[in-house]
Amino acid sequence: MTAIHPRYPLNNPMRKATAEAPIGIFDSGIGGLSIAQEIAHYLPHEHIVYYADTAHVPYGPREDQDIRELTAQAIEWLYRKGCKAAVVACNTASAFSLDSLRAHYGENFPIIGLVPALKPAVLQSQTKTVAVLATPATFRGQLIQDVIERFAKPAQVKVIPITSLELVPFVEAGAQMSAACLQTLQEILQPAVDQGADFLVLGCTHYPFLKTAIWHIFGHKLTLIDSGVAVARQTARILIKNELLFEQVRKDMVRIECYVSGQNATCLTPILTRLISADLTWTIRNLGI
Ligand code: DGL
Repeated sequence: MTAIHPRYPLNNPMRKATAEAPIGIFDSGIGGLSIAQEIAHYLPHEHIVYYADTAHVPYGPREDQDIRELTAQAIEWLYRKGCKAAVVACNTASAFSLDSLRAHYGENFPIIGLVPALKPAVLQSQTKTVAVLATPATFRGQLIQDVIERFAKPAQVKVIPITSLELVPFVEAGAQMSAACLQTLQEILQPAVDQGADFLVLGCTHYPFLKTAIWHIFGHKLTLIDSGVAVARQTARILIKNELLFEQVRKDMVRIECYVSGQNATCLTPILTRLISADLTWTIRNLGI
């Protein structure tokens, strides 16, 4: 395993946070807000600190070690911000970092990760053909290979891998329903539909924000599956196990506090207003302000 090098040395000894502390959630950009919202709805008393590495998004085309180091810096920032646990709400970052992060932080700072939700798609596919849409880096990682070996192969389900470097930038720009995005989706997904895929696993946390666009093009031909609810449940399990679940009512609380590493908080405000469900209060600011 390659060592990670956080930008700042860790405090020693490592402290264990209390249940009142926020849950830290990280993604390369705003895609992980699909996960943050599921967690906010599933755990209604929790406060979330969300870190979007908008200075470096997209991670998909980056080298493995680059992804590892950017992820390590982001998780270290959440740790120092006083979070009680961190959710790596990014399949690409999870693919390269979960083992090293867990080894680094140990039990006092639980790390929850993501892997494309292949299992439910495999179990439900009638055509025994499932498409997985993820970044090229996610397909290079071991996690996705493990779930293919564990669930798809024994069930003799064919997995069609689909990658695109164009989709994440469309979501970051709030351009999911643009003609260019619809055309890209049509071009990359049609071959899988032609090969008989009936399920599409959204293996990147940006992609749940493309559901409307995909439904618009393919209607009932593809059933879409994402990891949101499973990750929210797993987060609850880990917090309960570590006696870190917060169950009291808090008044006037901002539910999701977003920090972006790029200087683009102002430009993102109208985009997030459309992405985040109206019942969740949120703020956004540039890192360091
Ligand atoms: N949300 C990230 C994921 O789940 C996006 C990857 C990227 O930044 O390219 O993989």
